[in-house]
Amino acid sequence: MKLLVTGGAGFIGSNFILYWVKTHPNDFIVNLDKLTYAGNLENLKEIQGNSNYLFVKGDICNRETVKKAMDGVDVVVHFAAESHVDRSIMNPEDFVTTNVVGTQVLLDIAVEKKVKRFHHVSTDEVFGALELGSSSKFTENAPYDPHSPYSASKAGSDHLVRAYADTYGLPITITNCSNNFGPYQFPEKMIPLAITNVMEGKKIPIYGDGLYVRDWLYVEDHCKAIDLVLAKGIVGQTYCVGGLTQDISNLEVAKKILKILGKDESYIEFVKDRPGHDRRYAIDWSKIKTELSWEPLHDFDSWLEKTVSWYKENEWWWKDIKNRSYKEYYDKQYGQR
Ligand code: NAD
Ligand code: DAU
Repeated sequence: MKLLVTGGAGFIGSNFILYWVKTHPNDFIVNLDKLTYAGNLENLKEIQGNSNYLFVKGDICNRETVKKAMDGVDVVVHFAAESHVDRSIMNPEDFVTTNVVGTQVLLDIAVEKKVKRFHHVSTDEVFGALELGSSSKFTENAPYDPHSPYSASKAGSDHLVRAYADTYGLPITITNCSNNFGPYQFPEKMIPLAITNVMEGKKIPIYGDGLYVRDWLYVEDHCKAIDLVLAKGIVGQTYCVGGLTQDISNLEVAKKILKILGKDESYIEFVKDRPGHDRRYAIDWSKIKTELSWEPLHDFDSWLEKTVSWYKENEWWWKDIKNRSYKEYYDKQYGQR
């Protein structure tokens, strides 16, 4: 089988390619990635010379590039996106361009090339926010109610994917997944930012009161879920993917990280809240569990310890990023400190 993975040099995309090469060694993977600030070929160093892997540097908004990359492809797994909410608040335009227009270009070419499956990797943020303290959860039938330019652009892409299925008969599947964490996550996101800041002797910036809740999932569990959807999922269906069975606030996550790193709570610093900050996300992942027998491999605490160890063992990876272009964004977002 030949797969086109878009955004394969990013956090989840690179974990997915490394997972796929191990679990499906006879498949051929084309990785189409623009290499924005978030794309990093270091993530894929161990497979760069493989005969069943090809990297193509290019933009999903460019039709000619996409046409070439999709030649002979059976399955598209679409990760490429602008993915950070805070950046979408600073500069929404790139989000609409890549997440909406880029997805539409991919869909057009997928119809033209008659791909066997177009899998769209989406997010729980399209469903908006749940109430703090409630037991409600997002399901596949939750109404769309995005609040940030990022989630609005992802919602737009989800609608386009379903529209192409209904209008042109494109065989699609969609996963709406919760917050991932694990190796190779860009240190602008909460968990790698917290771990690496503490390792540098800096504080963990906590937005607002810190009582916001996210549904954390280890990245490998997400990759496995996509694998199962491709293998056994029903064409046209959406699957919600999440990790936790009970709420954990951002403040508690920060405290857990400090405990693993042997530091006290003086490393926590409350900072200005994110505008339009969604209070709580929680996923009801019973559909994918019942229909495809998926569930997370380990609990949050075990995966968190493993993740902290990875960042300790791979300082070369994140120190380089933190010292370069990322610094300008960091100073703008958090002020010079
Ligand atoms: P990321 O920001 O780490 O990686 C995105 C990748 O896409 C980068 O390699 C970047 O270079 C590439 N890219 C960006 N614009 C491009 C373009 N125009 N053409 C080609 N490549 C382009 O993102 P991530 O966290 O790995 O997320 C991947 C996907 O999963 C996204 O679609 C995101 O919405 C979705 N998702 C993420 C999470 C999460 O917690 N990180 C959860 C659910 C869903
Ligand atoms: O829910 C899935 C989504 O998870 C994905 O679709 C997005 O691509 C991904 O970025 C992530 O979005 P979040 O906004 O939830 O993730 P982030 O890591 O930015 O923030 C997690 C929580 O931590 C959120 O409540 C905001 C808070 N936070 C974040 C940062 C960066 C802080 O308190 N301080 C921070 O410095």
